Order: sequence, then C-alpha cells, then structure tokens
Amino acid sequence: MEIRSLGRGAPNVTCVGFGGMPISIAGRPGAAESVRVVLAALDAGVTLIDTADVYCLDDDDIGHNERLVARALKEWSGDSDSIVVATKGGLTRPGGRWESDARPEHLKRACEASLAALEVDTIDLYQLHAPDSAVPLEDSVGALADLHVEGKIRAMGLSNVSVDEIRRAAAIMPVTSVQNRLSPFFREALDDGVVEYTTLEDMGFLAYSPVGGGRLNRKLPDHPVVSVIAQSRGVSPHAVVLAWVLGRAPNVIVIPGARTEAHVLDSVASAEVELTDEEDRAIEAAEFSIA
Ligand SMILES: NC(=O)c1ccc[n+]([C@@H]2O[C@H](COP(=O)([O-])OP(=O)(O)OC[C@H]3O[C@@H](n4cnc5c(N)ncnc54)[C@H](OP(=O)(O)O)[C@@H]3O)[C@@H](O)[C@H]2O)c1
Repeated sequence: MEIRSLGRGAPNVTCVGFGGMPISIAGRPGAAESVRVVLAALDAGVTLIDTADVYCLDDDDIGHNERLVARALKEWSGDSDSIVVATKGGLTRPGGRWESDARPEHLKRACEASLAALEVDTIDLYQLHAPDSAVPLEDSVGALADLHVEGKIRAMGLSNVSVDEIRRAAAIMPVTSVQNRLSPFFREALDDGVVEYTTLEDMGFLAYSPVGGGRLNRKLPDHPVVSVIAQSRGVSPHAVVLAWVLGRAPNVIVIPGARTEAHVLDSVASAEVELTDEEDRAIEAAEFSIA
C-alpha cells in the first residue's frame, strides 16, 4: 500500500489507516469481533490506528477503544512496533454526551490513562481532540508540550482546528499532524485552507469520517456519480470516495472506521484506485446531500 508522511517527527504510514470509533460507540460489536476487525486491518498492511480515550459508551467506559487496540496488537502475529497508534485527549463522555475538557490538568490525567489503556510507555502521536472554548489553546498545547518533555508522547497532533489555531499551537510545539473532517459531503477543510496549509508545512492531514460517517456513507451506493464510477471500475462506492479524498493532497491519510472485516478490506483496496481527472472532476462537481 502507498506510504505517506504522517508529518515531521513521525514515521511514515500507509495512506489508508484504521479509525477505531465505530467499534467502541453505540452499536458496537462484541469485543472479540472488534479485535478481529482491528486484526484484519493489521493483516491487510495498515500501519496507522486512530483511537481516542472517548471512543466508548460514556465516562465509565473511557479507554474502551484503546484497550481493544492494545489487545489486538498483543494478539497480532506481526511486528507491533511497526504500527503507529494515534490517540487523543481533550473530551469527556458524561452520560454518553461529547463534551470538551482541554484543561491542562485533564489532559495530563487523560494521557496517563491512555498510556495505561494502550499498555505503552510513550504514545506515538497524541492529538488534542478539539480546542476547548473555555480554555486558552496555548494552555492546552502547553500541557502537551510538558507531556512531550516528560517522554510520555512522541509527537503532537491537533484535531478540529483552523489554520490560525494550528499556527498558534506551532508557536509552542511542533505540530506533526492535523485531523479534520473531509469527505465529498463535508469539504470545509479544503475551503478553509487547512489541507493546503498542512501540505505546505509538511504536516500530515488525517481525514476523518472520510466516507461521510456512520449515516451518510450508506447513501454512497445510490449516489448517481459515485455508483457509476464504482460499477465501471468494479470497485465499491466507498473505495471510490476514499480514492477521491486521498487525491486532494499528497499528505492526506484517510482513517475510515469499520465494524466488519469486509469493510476494512474494502477500504484498504481504495489505495489501489487511481481516479482519472475526469472521474475526479465529476465527483468534485457532484452534489452530496447531507439530508
Ligand atoms: N477527530 C475527531 O473529532 C473525529 C470525529 C469522527 C471520527 N474520527 C475518526 O475518524 C474515523 C472515521 O470516521 P467515522 O467512523 O466517523 O466515519 P467514516 O469512516 O466516514 O464511516 C464509518 C462507517 O462507514 C462504513 N464504512 C467504512 N468503510 C466502508 C467500506 N469500505 N464499505 C462499506 N462501508 C464502509 C462503516 O460501516 P460498518 O460500521 O457497517 O462497517 C463505518 O461504520 C473514526 O473511526 C475516528 O477514528 C475523528
């Protein structure tokens, strides 16, 4: 599979990673099945796993996804040192809701909990899940800089950020990667300049919800443009869309989620799909309703 840069200070990874969220939130499979899904990604050659402490049901279940990842890496027959695990801190799940808490004291506690859940001494890539409007960004990033100095995180990533926020964070500590939403349904990362900025600054861009997320991805098989391209090439509509997202810039890495081994393998196959300019433009121009 094609290898792309995860950003300065981080190893290169496969252009298709694995997003852990769907196997740990509502509607998740059982733990054994979920571990099989992660193992399918690893066996298919994926070298980047994206997780978060809050990929779970609620605050009593924090670390669910990180524990699954740790279990899969222990069971895997391959070299687990070759796998980059990116996790996140800065949110909480009271009553199952998603809330911000990027206070330095929370981030430091959350990082300790992630180290324990992942069963590692150092986290490969620790991402601020989202800026917290109640906390100056500089304070949150300052906490991650402390964690880096303490050897608890190897590199820092940001998520759900603007170009201005990336600049402010980079003034404190190098930003290795940025994780924002990007799919044909949601193109704000292209419109607001974040993808372009990360390309110019040698940062990885992790495209989250790259097939539109849990609900919208189900519209792809009926999409008039995507389905025709998929049929003519003999690949799935999801693979076509992932190929389109990967084509936005050379530093884009997609992290599709999946609850089945078949969906993991199908997404990995997208790395082999090269859209023609005409197909690319047709998707660019098409309407993707989020209704
Ligand atoms: N930083 C953030 O704030 C943030 C927010 C959201 C997500 N993320 C990260 O990004 C990852 C991906 O986002 P997401 O899970 O929201 O959305 P997504 O990857 O766009 O969509 C996930 C859903 O699409 C289906 N799917 C994916 N690939 C498929 C394929 N090849 N064929 C058929 N169905 C396919 C899966 O269905 P099945 O479940 O039926 O397999 C899965 O539930 C997450 O897992 C998480 O790691 C980060």
